[in-house]
Amino acid sequence: MRTAVALGVLAAMACLAAVAQAGNFLQDAEMTWGDGRGKVVDGGRGLDLTLDKTSGSGFQSKAEYLFGKIDMQIKLVPGNSAGTVTTFYLSSQGSAHDEIDFEFLGNVTGEPYTLHTNVFAKGEGKREQQFRLWFDPTKAFHTYSIVWNPQHVIFAVDGTPIRDFKNHEARGVSFPKNQPMRLYASLWNADDWATQGGRVKTDWSHAPFVASFRGFNADACVMSGGAQRCPAGTMDASGTGSSWWNQELSDMSYRRMRWVQRKFMIYNYCTDPKRVAEGLPAECKIRLRSK
Ligand SMILES: *[C@@H]1O[C@H](CO)[C@@H](O)[C@H](O)[C@H]1NC(C)=O
Repeated sequence: MRTAVALGVLAAMACLAAVAQAGNFLQDAEMTWGDGRGKVVDGGRGLDLTLDKTSGSGFQSKAEYLFGKIDMQIKLVPGNSAGTVTTFYLSSQGSAHDEIDFEFLGNVTGEPYTLHTNVFAKGEGKREQQFRLWFDPTKAFHTYSIVWNPQHVIFAVDGTPIRDFKNHEARGVSFPKNQPMRLYASLWNADDWATQGGRVKTDWSHAPFVASFRGFNADACVMSGGAQRCPAGTMDASGTGSSWWNQELSDMSYRRMRWVQRKFMIYNYCTDPKRVAEGLPAECKIRLRSK
């Protein structure tokens, strides 16, 4: 009995600690697959995932989140990374699941990575947008962020927003907002489709491939025992704009996003002729704001 109480107190403290704190991989993440191919490094500040011919590897957050700002610094597989896919995403469980995806599709040496993004709500996905990056993502760590609040899912790269998926429930578009999600990351082989449509295969003579993660930060509401615990001040209306909870794009960040989209977007489901022929999803027909 005393042990149970003590454990309860410890668990409560661990939860408080998990809220709004710079992440430590030892504390906040667990390897989920890869049989030792994923390794925590640098006392928990970093984590390396590896991929060889036998297997890739992956990890997940221990906590489940219901809204938050999640940042991760990633250095992608250098050199010939054709056929490799590095992922960083939030996902809930079950068939009608929600999911917010960053996926990095490798390429042969000297050719650019593709950054693939997608949003699933109630099991419905097919909302892909793809980008080139404006830097070499294998030379240094860059920060990839997801801001997820009740009105927006904002994807950002080094603080520059590249995509804003808005809550258009009023127009019948599902939005991820009721299912807690964990953070997942993985490095795996998908040479049947990932690089140049599957034409370029993985060159295993370069294995093992390594993708490095660090700077995991979850300023997020954590689910524990069915309750949502948010960092202090998260929903403070007087602090509008100071918190991710109220975050939307300012005029300036909106203009930066549009600039990135004009210069670096290489695929948009809303303008895909095949999708246009099928009838576009409702959110594609909502006019972007004109500013
Ligand atoms: C790889 O490079 C080719 C040639 O530049 C490009 O067409 C392709 O989109 C790049 N990315 C992937 C993932 O295939």
